[in-house]
Amino acid sequence: MNPPERPRAYIAIRLPPDARARIEAECGATFFEGKGAPSREELMAALANAEGVLGSNQLPMDAEVLASGPRLRVVSNFGVGFDNVDLKAAQERGVLVCNTPGVLSDAVADLTLGLIVALARRLPEAERFVREGGWGTRPGLALGTDVRGKTLGIIGLGRIGIAVAERAQAFGMSIVFHDVFSESPDEASFCSYRELDDLLAEADFVSLHVDLRPETHHLVSEREFGLMKPTAYLINTSRGPVVDQAALVAGLRSGELAGAALDVVEEEPLPADDPLTTLPNVILLPHIGSATVETRQAMLDLAIDNLLAALRGERPKAVVNPDVLS
Ligand code: DGY
Repeated sequence: MNPPERPRAYIAIRLPPDARARIEAECGATFFEGKGAPSREELMAALANAEGVLGSNQLPMDAEVLASGPRLRVVSNFGVGFDNVDLKAAQERGVLVCNTPGVLSDAVADLTLGLIVALARRLPEAERFVREGGWGTRPGLALGTDVRGKTLGIIGLGRIGIAVAERAQAFGMSIVFHDVFSESPDEASFCSYRELDDLLAEADFVSLHVDLRPETHHLVSEREFGLMKPTAYLINTSRGPVVDQAALVAGLRSGELAGAALDVVEEEPLPADDPLTTLPNVILLPHIGSATVETRQAMLDLAIDNLLAALRGERPKAVVNPDVLS
């Protein structure tokens, strides 16, 4: 009797040998060996006989791509975000979508606090100042502001938002939050709920921690920048399209807000000639919220666990669309 056929998986990110071996122990796997990510054509061709796919959460798993995998049972995202997957199409095709929640909350929260301090204390400007031969503060370098005693407005108090709030509390900040999806969210003991407009008017730092969905696309746009204090800062470590970037550039130029720190932008990678690159009051990072050795390892372990569990017919640890299971 022939041994049962092993499930086939397409692995769309480069993996270290131990991770490849874990997958190969259970699956017939095809690994993407190129640089960056597979092209759309390559992805669709590879999905023709795959039952599972593991890839970055930038991999475009839209309805057409999903349809190119008639045997597909699971999309395992290497990341907590899942805005790259057409959930409705996945649901219709009975495809499970998995992600990596929890394991990256600390890394993203650490980065967020780092950005708050960097904005408040003008760290990029100070660093450039030293390299250009400067030292000390005025007249060459303006003073920063204290973080203690300032108000942090968190939009989206999920796992990452809470981890940010905990850290901000230790920095002596007052914390207010807004939740886009719940009308009467539970207040954490040290955070108070605000309507969006009130939060924007009150906060000295506004930090975004929402998923990208139709309801959060351009959540912060021209009207919202108009409500912010001219001394306030925006921090975005969530998803670029949550912010209307053209409106942000206009607001930064006109002084509607004092500055911004962005780990994510509307078009990634950021085009070299994007107007954001010309603004001195912006800190730009290349989407590194989860980019630590420990966190990326934990994300990879969880993404592989999710993939293999689904292919075995078991319930994966982190499923975005559990309705598919029923
Ligand atoms: C996520 O997990 O969604 C992050 O953006 C990845 O870096």
